[in-house]
Amino acid sequence: MPVRMTQLAPFDLIVFGGTGDLAHRKLLPALYYRELDGQLHDDSRIIAVSRRDLSAENYRDWAHKSVAAQVSNLCNMSMERFLKRITYLSVNVEENTGWESLEETLKGRENIDRAFYLSVAPSLFGPICSAIGEHNLVTDETRVTIEKPIGRDGESAHAVNETVGSVFKEHQIFRIDHYLGKETVQNLMALRFANVMFEPLWNSAHIDHVQITVAETLGVEKRAGYYDTAGALRDMVQNHLLQLLCLVAMEPPESMAADSVRDEKLKVLKALVPMDEERVRRNTVRGQYRPGASAGGAVQGYLEEVGSPDSQTETFVAAKVEIANWRWAGVPFYMRTGKRLASRLSEIVIQFKDLPHSIFLEEAGTISANQLIIRLQPDEGVKMQLMIKDPGPGGMRLRKVPLDMTFAEAFKVRNVDAYERLIFDMIRGNQTLFMRRDEVEAAWKWIDPILEHWSNDKEAPKGYTSGTWGPSASIALIERDGRTWHED
Ligand code: BG6
Repeated sequence: MPVRMTQLAPFDLIVFGGTGDLAHRKLLPALYYRELDGQLHDDSRIIAVSRRDLSAENYRDWAHKSVAAQVSNLCNMSMERFLKRITYLSVNVEENTGWESLEETLKGRENIDRAFYLSVAPSLFGPICSAIGEHNLVTDETRVTIEKPIGRDGESAHAVNETVGSVFKEHQIFRIDHYLGKETVQNLMALRFANVMFEPLWNSAHIDHVQITVAETLGVEKRAGYYDTAGALRDMVQNHLLQLLCLVAMEPPESMAADSVRDEKLKVLKALVPMDEERVRRNTVRGQYRPGASAGGAVQGYLEEVGSPDSQTETFVAAKVEIANWRWAGVPFYMRTGKRLASRLSEIVIQFKDLPHSIFLEEAGTISANQLIIRLQPDEGVKMQLMIKDPGPGGMRLRKVPLDMTFAEAFKVRNVDAYERLIFDMIRGNQTLFMRRDEVEAAWKWIDPILEHWSNDKEAPKGYTSGTWGPSASIALIERDGRTWHED
């Protein structure tokens, strides 16, 4: 069936941080693809803003190169149309100058959708929002997107939410977590709620445990300044991993309406068993990569990479998470994420329980419990591990086989980047895939004690060699419970 593309009503998208890394790698290519698909109305504009003094023409050259660096087979006609709708303005937020030019550019367009995208340091969210408010740039059809991290703990997240909330109403605020826009994450909802067969099994009676792995091979790259003050717990677990956990664990929402889904996710976050000192000690592992090999080459350790020999910042986290409700009591959720790991792999594994009783003779072989593997990247898809009879003569021998639905093979469609989906949801005003204020704050409430106990703990993060699966303590964390991390 062909993909259905509807054209969006005219909009003005104003990107603060227009010359930044996110604009270069994600936002501009995502917008270009939508141009290619004919979704942008002739009257829609992209207004890039940053403090750099650039002409619109120079910016368009840069935008062209950004798209070309990510997209093969550029279409000249679409590119020409795309560049025509891009403008550039220099606004210095710290010195509070340049706002008049933005005001001027937006004047007379109060009746069309207006979307601010703040791809800037979180310390600028407040000043930018206040200035937007002071210059009367907020219309009824205005929205704002803010990138994570939203705060560095519960208190600072609350402060950010207060400032942004003093200018925009909650229905206008889009807190982006790009994991929610990934194809397979969307599919998790389809799998659970568009099929009847999973729901009766989706509970502690049939599921032994759940594993969530988000593994990267890259190190901190050019983001050492930010990363060294954040670490993996704030950078990945507080948002991406907890959001994945919520989608696995939530009750069926009443509908796909934003608040139905977000209400259910919030209930999960509130049901997480709080991490007291003993739980932090037993159920969390933090690691930091040491020199080793990654993607075939020798790489530096974290301390050398960031040039800070005493840094205690974790680049790896593993945790056993418990959910105190009827559906999940007694079903641990094991999470792990890290940089410079053995391969780039993100997946959710639903491990079903062993058979209550086997009717087969020992010669039939071992019966493995079923697994549902939801692969986020690479090779997005869903795989169900089933037991079947080995075909052919020779009696009953059992074999584990995957029922495999790798999307690229099954559907032959381009893998749409999460940002493409999310930017357009934002412009349309659909908040289903964005985090609500109370969700962000509830996630911090669970994270804060871990941060606190770790900072009181004299022990440094455990070292692991780059190119491995993290510290051995992470393996011990799950094996202590008689389970193992999933390996293909
Ligand atoms: C970002 C983190 O949110 O997600 C990065 O800040 C991380 O540290 C990135 O590398 C991973 O995203 P993806 O889509 O490449 O898995």
